[in-house]
This record gives sequence, C-alpha cells and structure tokens, in this order.
Amino acid sequence: MLEQLKQIIRAAGQIILSAGAEKDVTEKTGSRDLVTKYDKAVEAFLRARLLALLPEAGFMGEESIHSEDWTRYEWLFIVDPIDGTTNFVQGYANSCVSVGLLHKGLVEYGLVYNPYVDELYWAKRGAGAYLNGERLSCGDRPLERSLLIFGSALYYTELQARSLALFSAAFPIVQDVRRFGSAALDLCYVAAGRAGVFFEARLCPWDYCAGSLIAREAGAVVTSLEGGPLDLYHKCSVLAGCPSAHAGMLALAKQTT
Ligand code: IPD
Ligand code: CA
Ligand code: CA
Repeated sequence: MLEQLKQIIRAAGQIILSAGAEKDVTEKTGSRDLVTKYDKAVEAFLRARLLALLPEAGFMGEESIHSEDWTRYEWLFIVDPIDGTTNFVQGYANSCVSVGLLHKGLVEYGLVYNPYVDELYWAKRGAGAYLNGERLSCGDRPLERSLLIFGSALYYTELQARSLALFSAAFPIVQDVRRFGSAALDLCYVAAGRAGVFFEARLCPWDYCAGSLIAREAGAVVTSLEGGPLDLYHKCSVLAGCPSAHAGMLALAKQTT
C-alpha cells in the first residue's frame, strides 16, 4: 500500500510541474480563493488512482467537496490536490500534493509531496515519519530558539483579530516568523525540525490530515489552539510544534483568547 501511495503522489506532483503559463485561474469565493485547471486535474488523477487501489474507500477532496457523512467510511482518503494554490498561481515554488488515509477515524498513512524540490514526506501510524528515505525527528527547543510558521486563516475575517493577537504575543519571544503559504508543508517543516512551531486559526481536514500524522510521527505535538484533538471531518484550528515550543504557544493561545 505505502509504495503504491508514494508512486501515485509522485505522479500527481508531475502534473503540477507540467503546468505552463496558462493555468486557467478561477476565483471561487473571491480573489483570495483560487482554483486552477491543475487543482482539478490533480484531484481527478488522485481520485481515479486511489480508488482503484482501495475501491471501498471514501474520497474527500477539496475540489469536489460535498456534504456527506464521512464517518461512515471505514477507509477514507482525505486529499488536497494542490496545497498552496496561490503560491502555484504566483509562481512561488512552495506547493504540494497532500494525501491522508484514515482507517476507522485514525490517520493511518500521510503523504505530502513537494514536486519543486522532490521532497516526499510520509508516515505510517506507529512507524515513524520520513523525508524521502531519511527518518525525521522534530527535536525539542523552547519558543526562544524556534522559528514560528503561521498561517493567516485568510478566508475567515472573523478570525483575523484572534490570529493577530496570538502572532503579536509570540513575535517578541520567538527567533523569527515565516509565512510560507502551504499548511501541509508547514506541518512537514515542523516534522523536519525546520521550524519549532506552526499555527493557523482555521484549516480544513485536507490541509492537515496527512501533515498532522507526519508531524506526530516525528515527535511533534499536534492539537487545536485549545489543546484538544484535531477534528478530521470538519474545519478546526491547528497548533503543531516540538514539545516545548508547542507548550509555550498553547500557553500564549490561552492568554490571548
Ligand atoms: C491554503 C494553504 C494556506 C493556508 C490556507 C489554506 P490551498 O490551502 O494551506 O497556507 O493559509 O488556510 O486554505 O487553498 O492553497 O489549498
Ligand atoms: Ca489547502
Ligand atoms: Ca488546495
């Protein structure tokens, strides 16, 4: 299963790399919320290949999302065909394909592939996290020695004050801040120890399903901003970090609500 999933996600990444200048960009809910013909093409490719591999599974994909009782599936693929679509449209080479596979409500496999640098992050529950062939460990350090990656939860204007309050509380403490534009890769960067901590005030399951397993299997703590478990079927906030940085941010999150 794992080897087939790796092959499929790598092939999906080639579709992103094949993109020419004409991406056929459409605004979904406005100028901040884009979809291209490549998002749709990657999702159609993944749907066909993943369901051929596991026909009994459900398929929750960002570009074909509809309301359904997703909990009824024993196996469920949760897929973001291109995480970082705005980066993709702007030619900022930091986007990925994200594929998570749930079994009875738990993330069993998580794969995130950045085709621009040929980085495949993957994890199987209980078996560790890897970047290509190398085992990942997020290590541990306090906020003072951590880069903070944040996501702006930009579709939710009602959350801007919340995000900025937490950002303002953390900014004087952390080593520095980054905003890369792909939540799935942000979680993998925490897994790889490139950043100590990541937060975003609201994300969708396809943004964090795969990356949350990869980060956890690398030793990171992954919760909502309230410190509870992530909801894999509905939107929720995400806070992921090496243990000390996660604890530090969680304390700030509690002070700033
Ligand atoms: C977005 C990216 C971005 C995050 C947004 C997501 P998309 O996903 O992960 O970093 O800030 O909240 O929606 O739209 O590029 O798939
Ligand atoms: Ca996304
Ligand atoms: Ca997407």
